[in-house]
Amino acid sequence: MVLSLAINDLYAGYGAVKALRGVTLNVEAGETVALLGTNGNGKSTLMKCIAGLVRPQRGGVSLTIDGNAHDLTRLSAEAIVDLGVALVPEGRRLFPKLTVLENLMLGAFRRAARRDLDRNLTLAFDTFPALKELQNQLAGTMSGGQQQMLAIARALMSSPRLLLIDEPSVGLSPLLVSQTIAKIGELNQRFGLTVLMAEQNFNQAIRIADRGYIIVHGEIVVAAGSVDELRGNDIVKRLYLGGIA
Ligand SMILES: Nc1ncnc2c1ncn2[C@@H]1O[C@H](COP(=O)(O)OP(=O)(O)OP(=O)(O)O)[C@@H](O)[C@H]1O
Ligand SMILES: [Mg+2]
Repeated sequence: MVLSLAINDLYAGYGAVKALRGVTLNVEAGETVALLGTNGNGKSTLMKCIAGLVRPQRGGVSLTIDGNAHDLTRLSAEAIVDLGVALVPEGRRLFPKLTVLENLMLGAFRRAARRDLDRNLTLAFDTFPALKELQNQLAGTMSGGQQQMLAIARALMSSPRLLLIDEPSVGLSPLLVSQTIAKIGELNQRFGLTVLMAEQNFNQAIRIADRGYIIVHGEIVVAAGSVDELRGNDIVKRLYLGGIA
């Protein structure tokens, strides 16, 4: 399958707040791309624009699948899920009073996903065996790490081709961050899932990323073609690697 996401000169905001100011970025099939930025720089806004949860003011979000281009700025969030784009939102957004299994089922709410429910549930449990054991536990009673696994597994239930993961490391201990990042890498390697991951944790993100972007105040200030290029960048050194400003 040939898939590519192209974001072109995107502007979005909330009233007077300009959250994205001319963002241009692309993700190609099979890649893991990191969107790096510290608090409040527009990472979640960009993820939400792709998922159809925030409407951009101008600019393009185009998903091309097997030669057919889809303008995501004109589609509903549900239609974007149907195209195979799944968002793992910041803060997990699980239903705490529902069980693990019920939360997973809610990830398969679209008709196309319901058809593949058994296959996707097997895939989710194969990927996260602990969730199978815990399937009748209430989501809200699970540990932070387990909840993040569940949030990712729920996204897998919609048969995604492009996975958008918004700050998977938030609120997790260093060990769990490391395990979660490794799992995301595994999804990319084993299932060929294309991944766009927003992160503040530079060192963890670059473990699995092929390349990355740095976003500052709603603008892409670095677009690096490789992880080595990212590491060597002066802005990256200043922001993340303890260099002198
Ligand atoms: N619903 C909203 N209403 C008003 N302003 C918002 C809203 N959501 C985000 N913003 C503002 O937009 C800007 C970008 O926020 P965004 O959540 O996209 O950043 P972020 O990079 O994801 O930050 P974090 O790392 O803290 O999650 C910030 O100035 C934020 O305060
Ligand atoms: Mg965010």
